[in-house]
Amino acid sequence: MNPIKHVAIIMDGNGRWGLKYKNSRNAGHKAGLKTVEKIIKETLRQKIKFLTLYAFSTENWKRPQKEISFLFSLLENFLIKRINELNKQKIKLKIIGIKNFSKKLNRLLSISENKTFKNRELQINLALNYGSKSEILNAVKVMLKKKDRVSEKNFTKYLHTTNIPDPDILIRTGNTKRLSNFLLWQLAYTEIFFEKKLWPDFNEKDYNKILKKFQIIKRNYGNI
Ligand code: IPE
Ligand code: IPE
Ligand code: MG
Repeated sequence: MNPIKHVAIIMDGNGRWGLKYKNSRNAGHKAGLKTVEKIIKETLRQKIKFLTLYAFSTENWKRPQKEISFLFSLLENFLIKRINELNKQKIKLKIIGIKNFSKKLNRLLSISENKTFKNRELQINLALNYGSKSEILNAVKVMLKKKDRVSEKNFTKYLHTTNIPDPDILIRTGNTKRLSNFLLWQLAYTEIFFEKKLWPDFNEKDYNKILKKFQIIKRNYGNI
């Protein structure tokens, strides 16, 4: 059975869910947050050590301002309400991406990261204003500036995911089969699961089905 250290998720389909059931994309984002809570709980229960959630891409700035503001206000409220509880559960929160949001949100994110920094039960990497191409370019720039030797190992030091093992599993909900600029380097040998359900409809049972399927896959890494 393959051990599971790290699960990454592209949480897609909120907008479509919201339009379908509530005639509002934002209602889908709100419902999606409930799924986030369920999946965090189940990840803890399964004793998986890293969970990476794609919440906002560098390309998502193209969306209408109203939707962007709603997403960030959801995140703010979530952190204000939940960070103490996450801390009690020994969850460490790490932001991967560039923190250039409002002063208030930047501060809240830093406080949440600092508060939970020493926790070891589960690390949640929240990908916010994250884009894999810019992450890779930035890593190249820093590596060259520091005159570090160019090698795989050195390169990974300059990624946002330094010290985080590569994902074993990638799940993308929402019936779309693409990576949308997510962890292009880190996913080199990840097992990928595309899920038809929209993110707000995804639940613990669906999640566990995927975890089970993963455990019996033969991982070759180029070998036989
Ligand atoms: C993913 O859901 C969540 C974010 C990008 C924040 P979408 O908002 O992309 O939902 P669809 O794909 O439009 O249904
Ligand atoms: C990917 O979903 C980003 C997040 C889930 C945060 P998108 O909905 O933005 O992806 P595209 O634009 O359909 O590829
Ligand atoms: Mg989408």
